[in-house]
Amino acid sequence: MQNFTFQNPTRILFGEGRIADIAAEIPAGARVLITYGGGSVVRTGTLDEVKAALKNFTVFEFAGIEPNPTYETLMEAVALARREKVDFLLAVGGGSVIDGTKFIAAAIPFAGDPWDMLAKRAAVTRAIAFGSVLTLPATGSEMNNGAVITRRASSDKLAFLNDLLFPRFSVLDPSKTFTLPPRQVANGVVDAFVHIAEQYLTYPADAKVQDRFAEGLLLTLIEEGPRALREPENYAVRANLMWTATLALNGLIGAGVPQDWATHMLGHELTVLHGLDHAQTLAVVLPAMLQVQRAEKRDKLLQYAERVWGLREGDAEARIDQAIVRTRLFFESLQVPTRLSDYGIGVEAIAPLVAQLKRHGMVALGEHRSVDLARAQQVYELAA
Ligand code: NZQ
Ligand code: ZN
Repeated sequence: MQNFTFQNPTRILFGEGRIADIAAEIPAGARVLITYGGGSVVRTGTLDEVKAALKNFTVFEFAGIEPNPTYETLMEAVALARREKVDFLLAVGGGSVIDGTKFIAAAIPFAGDPWDMLAKRAAVTRAIAFGSVLTLPATGSEMNNGAVITRRASSDKLAFLNDLLFPRFSVLDPSKTFTLPPRQVANGVVDAFVHIAEQYLTYPADAKVQDRFAEGLLLTLIEEGPRALREPENYAVRANLMWTATLALNGLIGAGVPQDWATHMLGHELTVLHGLDHAQTLAVVLPAMLQVQRAEKRDKLLQYAERVWGLREGDAEARIDQAIVRTRLFFESLQVPTRLSDYGIGVEAIAPLVAQLKRHGMVALGEHRSVDLARAQQVYELAA
């Protein structure tokens, strides 16, 4: 096992009815800015519930944080927050709203152009405190310190991490996910699945707990993902999915093990240039990435084949082939297509995608830094 430092300060309020408990988590007298997306939280009544819980606070609202939240939109919220001297943020929504709120939290006290936090890795030394009410299990943003922000004007989708960006608290009420459209349920399952893959399908580090934890999370997604689509109002299923997605990217399974993240980086360029949902990009890239990297990932792919897919027969190469096929079929069973052509993207799109990776310095990705531009191109070609 590799050395690691692990601390996760986010307090989780899990279960039905927990929105009522948020007032106790926010400093008395705080001026709170509620941030949300395109209106699902208005339609579902979640926003009203949040406002009722905050009746003793001064509350402002910022609506319209879009999927793949943009710098352009978020800077409007920063202006509002500065103007109103907001000192607490509450994100109500999915990963995009939470990520966007992390950006707002860091941008409010930032001197200079906050985009530098992403583009130039400018130091984040202060951030406004914030919490979240999660409505879409997928990204893990509710219990991690990362955010991914898009700048429309420059076709960039970049991530940043900072320990000041852990939410103070997150409400995980599974019943708030009953209203998710099937596409978003499926996206959430695929995103969580690939987060686990990025931290598990690398090379052995003799990290038994992390491995078995990762396998347990994958098996839960395989069992409960399809059930959530069939039985949208099954609370137990939603509860298991919600906690799985959080644990998939809250630092626990990634502590002390090598990590990959190449699939995510290739995926981000697909979202920027072609507008695919985040999870759709991952469903396209991961099977091709595993194929291209199969030699380096051999030992873990064999372990994955056996422990996750029950593949014990036949020679090793055939088991790896089967494990990759099963992964693809699982995504497709959730109605998430796994080929670029399924999204109307042809091979002529590959050179611009590779050029974006180059422009973003994504030239040595993966747990061995071996995914250079030539290999990335191979992955996109295999995904065609
Ligand atoms: O905007 P509204 O109207 O709220 O609708 C949203 C949105 O259209 C809808 N939705 C959310 N909860 C709902 C609901 N509709 C009905 N009922 C509900 N309960 O779902 C749509 C998608 O929401 P979004 O927040 O964009 O999805 P997701 O949670 O998948 O977040 C994706 C973003 O997270 C980033 C991605 O890159 C992408 O920008 N990621 C963040 C990570 C992190 N912070 O650690 C890691 C991930 O790898 C990922 O990159
Ligand atoms: Zn992801």
